[in-house]
Amino acid sequence: MKVAIAGYGVVGSGVAEMLIKNRETIAQAIGQDICLEYVVDIREVDLPEDVELTDDIDRVLGDPDVKVLFETIGGARIAYEYTQKALSRGIGVITSNKELVATRGDELRELARQKGAWYLCEAAVCGGVPVLRPLKTDLAGNRILHLNGIVNGSTNFLLTRMEETRMTFNAALAEAKSLGYLEADPTADVDGLDARRKLAILANAAFGARLSDDRLIPTTGIGRVTQRDLHAARLMGGALKLIAHARRTEEGWTGWVHPSFVPDGHPLVGVRDVFNGLCVNGDCVGDVMFYGQGAGRLPTASALIGDLVELARNLDRPVSCDVLPVVPFVAPDEEPVRAVIRVEGDVLPLCEAIPVEDVRSDGPLNAVLTTDMPLKELKERIGIVRRMGSELGVPLIGLC
Ligand code: HSE
Repeated sequence: MKVAIAGYGVVGSGVAEMLIKNRETIAQAIGQDICLEYVVDIREVDLPEDVELTDDIDRVLGDPDVKVLFETIGGARIAYEYTQKALSRGIGVITSNKELVATRGDELRELARQKGAWYLCEAAVCGGVPVLRPLKTDLAGNRILHLNGIVNGSTNFLLTRMEETRMTFNAALAEAKSLGYLEADPTADVDGLDARRKLAILANAAFGARLSDDRLIPTTGIGRVTQRDLHAARLMGGALKLIAHARRTEEGWTGWVHPSFVPDGHPLVGVRDVFNGLCVNGDCVGDVMFYGQGAGRLPTASALIGDLVELARNLDRPVSCDVLPVVPFVAPDEEPVRAVIRVEGDVLPLCEAIPVEDVRSDGPLNAVLTTDMPLKELKERIGIVRRMGSELGVPLIGLC
């Protein structure tokens, strides 16, 4: 079976390396040999022997032996065009492109269904950690009730470095860049957009959410997080993490991406560096946790090759239907939450405006744990305290 890779960057070249390195293992898993025939890229890139470099996607897709296109371009422009062309010809597409899946995935899946082609995206969420297939197969008989995840590796690296070395956000950012963990433009990671896209894809697998409801998910990144916010979380007996949260509700599903307080002892508190972790709760299975490398060349390639194995094993069968995208997103305004809030100086104004359960102090820095209240009400009360002149940190939604 011939395959092609479009986009020969970190991930695309990882797929090529894995196809060659593990050729026999993959052939055994599938029952036939896989031949990487083409790489589509406009750059002059070094390729393994016998692989043809071209910038002509139509020629590649016109080769009747090409059954699969790995789309590792990223972005939603050229990647969209190539994906649409491939699916229209009935060629399967395997992608790590969370932006494209979250923004145009509903439409592309519909096209795939009409053309009897596969469109798979395990690598788009949590890199090398299998999460989508387990949700759609092994856990498919459960009603998934809620999930919490650390789904962005680079921001988790930044927070880990800030926590462990006490360096500033900007110093951690510079280090992450020098190690190649951040995109040239790290905005999507730092502002939480990357995590939001992954949450939309997870909610699709878990609840049958519309992928494009991605844009409705309230999202706060870690750009305003300081050492003192991390210190407040430590004082309260836990750590600050960027958490993607989703919960099934009576009307649909709800969720957010937000800096959060994860108490010591919670399974996600030990998820460090570029690792990802996802805790899922199903009505019959109870708690399940997934953990591993959420980014990087070969871990991400591993997920793409996993999709290849599924696709190749089922090439002659009807395309398996994804969960029908009918479950609506409901704004989390009424979701009961508690938060850890950093208060500099006098805590009284805050304690008068917000019922609190615990206050811990280290000099002028106080960490306050609120009682449960609807998210909207919590935000309103925090706004009042801020307007009264109190200096508050980023509120951390509690996983407790
Ligand atoms: N920028 C992403 C992350 C890459 O840091 O998680 C993997 O999706």
